[in-house]
Amino acid sequence: MQAIITTNEVKALEYVFVFAAIWCIGGGFTQMADGKDYRKEFSKWWTDKFKAIKFPGKTVFDYYIDIENSKVDEWIKLANMDIVNTIDTTKSIQSYTIPTVDTIATQYLMRQFMSVGHSPLLVGQAGCGKTQIIKGLLRDLVDKTDDYLSQTINMNYYTDATTLRTNLMAQLEKQGGTRYGPVGKYTLIYFIDDLNMPRLDPFNTQSAIALLRQVKDYNHWYDLSKGIQLLQVQRTLMVCAMNPFAGSFTVNPRLQRHFWMLAVGMPMDASLSQIYGAYLGKHFGKFKASIHEQVQFIIKATLNLHSEVTRTFRKTAQNFHYEFNVRHLTNVFQGLLNAKPEAISEPDKLVKLWVHEAERIYGDRLVSHAHLAKYREIAADITNKAFTKINLKKYFGATPEILVFANFVGSLDDKLYDIFPNGELMAQRLTEGLNAYNELNAVMDLVLFEDAMKHVCKISRIISADQGHALLVGVGGSGKQSLATLAASIC
Ligand SMILES: Nc1ncnc2c1ncn2[C@@H]1O[C@H](COP(=O)(O)OP(=O)(O)O)[C@@H](O)[C@H]1O
Ligand SMILES: [Mg+2]
Repeated sequence: MQAIITTNEVKALEYVFVFAAIWCIGGGFTQMADGKDYRKEFSKWWTDKFKAIKFPGKTVFDYYIDIENSKVDEWIKLANMDIVNTIDTTKSIQSYTIPTVDTIATQYLMRQFMSVGHSPLLVGQAGCGKTQIIKGLLRDLVDKTDDYLSQTINMNYYTDATTLRTNLMAQLEKQGGTRYGPVGKYTLIYFIDDLNMPRLDPFNTQSAIALLRQVKDYNHWYDLSKGIQLLQVQRTLMVCAMNPFAGSFTVNPRLQRHFWMLAVGMPMDASLSQIYGAYLGKHFGKFKASIHEQVQFIIKATLNLHSEVTRTFRKTAQNFHYEFNVRHLTNVFQGLLNAKPEAISEPDKLVKLWVHEAERIYGDRLVSHAHLAKYREIAADITNKAFTKINLKKYFGATPEILVFANFVGSLDDKLYDIFPNGELMAQRLTEGLNAYNELNAVMDLVLFEDAMKHVCKISRIISADQGHALLVGVGGSGKQSLATLAASIC
């Protein structure tokens, strides 16, 4: 309330109170894995109990208050679509935070809390967009106002008070006596990601967390480099994110009580369509109309495929990496943004590219032939339903044709992401690549059978992407090293 009521002339006090109460009490609720939506339940309870202010239709979390006009209104009205218009699709998807109902609400509330020096803590599962939302907000605050600087600190298993203290000091300077602060009149925002990661030491404490608690309680810490010297710290703020399913499930309550906690759920399909629609719409706007038209179908088909894959391939003790989240969706779309008008000339080629990218993201993570066959069944089904006019049966049959995109189809230095029309051309290009490698290095005597060639293409696709890191898993002698070497020398 303190943040929202900025003048003495108090308007709509009841609205402000209800809004603040809903988000401070109910902000920690979310939809659970068992399907139960605690936000909905809270909303029902609230609207039953407090009838003075009516919320039209949806849940109480879907509205903000318009103080000037004393009414509640939908979050989407606060959207600032500037970002969407400035998207540059050659940059990675992570470079922009697209406004959706979830991000608008979260960012608005965080901004209010931070304006009065209070720290928000976002809690949610892996890949639900916590980091993305905070980075977007910080970019906005740092670029568009003259009040803030920011620093990102990623906690990990080994972070302890000493390393954290060094990190916290990085942008502070001495400002007289024992006082330290960021340069000029700025406020420094520490974004501490994965807050709950540090391991427990032999005394069952997380010393990094204990240090943060000290900073929050007293705004000071001790410099241990020259004896024990007290440093007063001024004009700093914290924004944190944590995933309770990785690292410790809770953080010390003496730290947590300093935060306003908000649960971040998985984005709804509508939000996801909006996010990826913004990128694809922009990118394929430059293509033929018949290709551009496919975008909406591709997004729908990807979301279907994603939920089908998530439902079919569950995380187990053996397959602990079967965890598919928004990050994988992002990767599929990132792959589609490699499309260039010179290569993708017809709608069916775009759909082929989509099938290929989805198989790289989902199919390549599966561990057995049975799982892969199951995946291909799902993909074939969804492709047939989503793109009725385009026939891709030859890629999904019992003896499928190869469907491989790579950026060395025309020639080795071509760098145009295109499809190999047949296996012979793929073999020819890779043999050229191998010969070129062998001329300059110790000779590698590889037999390029079909699976090996496909693997080289897969690896080169990953490592030529921005921030692309590959982890090859296989028994000894399956060719991981030599295929990776060849892929690296080609791209
Ligand atoms: N509003 C958004 N705009 C753009 N991308 C988003 C948005 N929300 C989520 N994403 C995508 O979701 C993916 C996962 O988000 P991330 O912030 O890394 O998750 P977390 O930190 O919660 O584990 C990112 O790759 C990002 O591209
Ligand atoms: Mg994160």
